[in-house]
Amino acid sequence: MDDLLSNTLPGMRDLLPEEIGRWQRVEEHARRVFARYGFAEIRTSLIEPTELFARGIGTDTDIVGKEMYTFVDRSKRSVTLRPEATASVVRAYLQNAMYRGGGLTKLYYLGPMFRHEKKQKGRWRQFYQIGAEALGSDHPAVDAEMIDMALWFLQSLNVEAKLLLNSVGCRNCRPRYVSLLQSELGKCVDNLCEDCRRRAATNSLRVFDCKVESCQPYIDQLPFITDHLCPECAEHFEKVKSFLDEAGIVYTIVPRLVRGLDYYIRTAFEIVSGELGSQNAIAGGGRYDGLSEALGGPPVHALGFALGLDRLVMILPEDSNSKEQAGPDLFLAHLGEAAFKKATEIVRDLRHRGLSCCLDFFSGTLKSQMRQANRLGAKFVLILGEDELARGVASMKNLQDSSQQEIAIPEIAGFLKSHIQDRTA
Ligand code: HAM
Repeated sequence: MDDLLSNTLPGMRDLLPEEIGRWQRVEEHARRVFARYGFAEIRTSLIEPTELFARGIGTDTDIVGKEMYTFVDRSKRSVTLRPEATASVVRAYLQNAMYRGGGLTKLYYLGPMFRHEKKQKGRWRQFYQIGAEALGSDHPAVDAEMIDMALWFLQSLNVEAKLLLNSVGCRNCRPRYVSLLQSELGKCVDNLCEDCRRRAATNSLRVFDCKVESCQPYIDQLPFITDHLCPECAEHFEKVKSFLDEAGIVYTIVPRLVRGLDYYIRTAFEIVSGELGSQNAIAGGGRYDGLSEALGGPPVHALGFALGLDRLVMILPEDSNSKEQAGPDLFLAHLGEAAFKKATEIVRDLRHRGLSCCLDFFSGTLKSQMRQANRLGAKFVLILGEDELARGVASMKNLQDSSQQEIAIPEIAGFLKSHIQDRTA
């Protein structure tokens, strides 16, 4: 086959059946936890007008400037595969006038995002996020509840993670801080790397993302945003911290924490894991009270986070009860045409009674059918030959302890149900 057509594009991958169990476990857990916190699922369009992301995320960001999958569609319109979902959720909130009823709207989503980033461990060009957004309140307790949910979700999967917290100010205090930052950067710009020099001119807060060793002594000297918050932002930040303290949530204040998207105001946070290497952010989020207006809507207070599912699955501890290790309850081995016919009838009946069953379609020997059963990780094998069929019985083999017994065909379902309680309960 042509090499180009037998491989995924760089940075893309398939999630194969042997790994999908871990993904499903996380996704099902997210649905349970998020529902407990009052979030409802939303599925937004994967393709949006490019302008939505340009205005929402910011034209000076790496995402919009360098990483979007943008193309002109057949209506000659510039469209983009979503690099994140927050802008789409706000768009859907506005389009469906969800603000009309007042109160807090809590939404979560789960799905693929696309960013043409440099490939490295923990970084893909199609990656998956689980995210949550709460729209309609600026109460600092909502910030704390959102952070609590993200952390509890991870803790309940036994994933160790650390919360990094900052406030990035608002439209009133941040411009003052940014001009101070620019004047300080002006004093050392000649000593900074090329990226920092560019950022100093275009999006100076992003200088704090620089990892170049020689820039660090200069970056260390730059003023902290937390020392330049307006009284309203300072008070909001204090309250968020005190709600977290009351909940016993441990955090580290990182005044250099800036996020790669421009819509944030006030609370900004990341959740990192030491197990991930250089791409250590497992989740990121914050408050984005101005995003609705940037998209042409009314003022809406909002915040949220998104969690990188690919990264989470990488560090997810093994779970001995998890589905990924569970093969079918039963593999049905059959010998002869009449037995095959009966076997199809039996598996259909068992499946309708809630049991998972597979059978052979290759008319293989008993040996090859046993091999298939082992490969699939079946718990039991039912062997049905012409002779057994004539007597209305079959042989049930337990693959865990190798014991075998004859069983009347009408009793198969009852036998399996009494031996495999979890699935049929
Ligand atoms: P973000 O920090 O760009 O935020 O992405 C959130 C998470 O997605 C990251 O912490 C990381 O785990 C994962 N992620 C990002 N890029 C990649 C990649 N190329 N490969 C694998 N994983 C990746 C947002 O997307 C915001 N929309 C979050 C948000 C929601 N803010 C408010 N509401």
